[in-house]
Amino acid sequence: MCGIIGYIGNKNVDSVLLVGLEKLEYRGYDSVGIALISNNEIFVKKQKGRIRDLANSLNGTPLKAKIGIGHTRWATHGKPSDINAHPHLDCKRRFAVVHNGVIENFEKLKKKLIKKGHKFISETDTEVIPHLLEEYYNGDILKTVLKVVRELKGSYALAIISKFHPDKIIGVRKGSPLIVGIGEGENLLSSDIPAILSHTRKIITLNEEEIVIMDKENVKIYDFHGKEKRKRIRYIEWEEDMIEKGGYPYFMLKEIHEQPKVIEENLKRVIINGEIKIQENEFLNFFKNKNHIIFQAAGTSYHASLYGKYIFEKYLKIFVDSDLSSEFRYREPLLLKNTLMIAVSQSGETADTLEGIRLAKKKKIPILSIVNVKGSTIDRESNYTIYINAGPEIGVASTKAYTAQLLYLLLICLLISYKRNIIKKKQLKEIIHELEKIPDKIRYILGKEEEIAEIAKKYYKFNNVIFLGRGLHYVTALEGALKLKEISYIHATGYAAGEMKHGPIALIDKNWPVIAIIPKNYLYQKMLSNVMEVKAREAKIIAITDGTPTELKKIAESIIIIPKTIPILEPILNIIPLQLFAYHVALLRGCDVDKPRNLAKSVTVE
Ligand code: AGP
Repeated sequence: MCGIIGYIGNKNVDSVLLVGLEKLEYRGYDSVGIALISNNEIFVKKQKGRIRDLANSLNGTPLKAKIGIGHTRWATHGKPSDINAHPHLDCKRRFAVVHNGVIENFEKLKKKLIKKGHKFISETDTEVIPHLLEEYYNGDILKTVLKVVRELKGSYALAIISKFHPDKIIGVRKGSPLIVGIGEGENLLSSDIPAILSHTRKIITLNEEEIVIMDKENVKIYDFHGKEKRKRIRYIEWEEDMIEKGGYPYFMLKEIHEQPKVIEENLKRVIINGEIKIQENEFLNFFKNKNHIIFQAAGTSYHASLYGKYIFEKYLKIFVDSDLSSEFRYREPLLLKNTLMIAVSQSGETADTLEGIRLAKKKKIPILSIVNVKGSTIDRESNYTIYINAGPEIGVASTKAYTAQLLYLLLICLLISYKRNIIKKKQLKEIIHELEKIPDKIRYILGKEEEIAEIAKKYYKFNNVIFLGRGLHYVTALEGALKLKEISYIHATGYAAGEMKHGPIALIDKNWPVIAIIPKNYLYQKMLSNVMEVKAREAKIIAITDGTPTELKKIAESIIIIPKTIPILEPILNIIPLQLFAYHVALLRGCDVDKPRNLAKSVTVE
């Protein structure tokens, strides 16, 4: 899941590309490259490493070109290296291509092209594309691209420039996201909105199997049969400062601190005179006569969907499954007549989740999605989408999107439960009353950042950590462990506390910090005995609790006390100290918090 960008206009393209690639770097950052046309020649600069390294090697001398394409890579085929970095060229350097996705039949195509005399220099799947363009070029670039896409299998978003058309950029979308930015005397191509926001707010989202050919004044879009298509221009609401760090050292920390505001603004948006109203409640129809719900999602969104399973079963009294997207379609799930699929995704571009949706659609199962990025593929391919309005999330480790997902899952669940007369008005009012206190309670926990940073100093050298929770906090333990794993590279695992004695407790000795999520709720006693069990094996206990920790003081080395709330809301509060703990541990270990190794923000390949 790489980031691609293209620009044609009057500005010096190299700075536009470098700044744009920086905004896309969270999509992949193991190598980078640009290609531009200057004096009718294609100039390429690419290398292993980060965008700042490329910018330094260009040492600021503007290249006076007005058209170019760029790429930041998350390697799928061919290790990160200067040769495998994009753009890739044909034998005579007349076509340059950047690509996000995977060409599944590249080896077969490569063999065929080598037989025809083409010389390949990289290990990538992408390099077949410029050689195919070279092979089929007949003076008509649209016809040539149409011939090439008929040969390609897999997923691809492409940006192409050619010496034959020094005033045009060609974009192609099949499987990976691609948007067109419509400017004044300039036009852009990009994998994502942040890269073009400083140039324009008018975008066209390319659909599956579409080709765009643009110069600085005109944009023409065709389908894979060469038929021209009329497309709607959408206006982006996001402000530019939303994609800036706003004085924070990392996007992740900024996004952790944005959570009270995100929750507050969403509550203002959906709690109208004490009633829950989400997008005019149009989604309610999707739940009619449904007696089985399947959540499917990946990573942090999967954890949110697990929370969904717990509360939907409890408050809707229907069967709910929660599947990992990457497992879902290969386990041949039972999708019955009265099943509703709920897909959860921050980016709306996760390939595994998308394929889960496509499988369910084939079986005529309605799809309701809970998404952050409007206009994303999952949004457009779902029957209905509920937006979590968390704003752009740039840090690879998802934080504010998670708590916003929990919030919307809860609101949807409460509304349907109330409409089905399962919970009464009084209980609903009480929960909403508690909910409205959550933003300030999160602010209170954020106020403890220094205390949490101090605790992080005690444990950042350990390479193994276990998170324990029961009930809804089994989910919190999974999410806390994922946060620590993905940004600090510590081997962290979340367990249902009661499960430890069935095996994992064998791991425990004095070298194991154990983070126990142990609020004083109906499971406190059970949880306390589980904590005692690992303490008895000399684990170093860090307790997150909301009560006066009398017993905990005797067994825990570190205790973080957070405000009390009702059990169904606890996961929104209890994850905050774990996000901050992970952040500060990663910082102390010298990790790049926003761009952790081997990861990317949206995983657009299976
Ligand atoms: C979470 O911090 C990770 N970035 C990752 O697990 C992520 O949640 C997963 O890839 C799903 O992404 P999505 O919500 O955009 O679909």
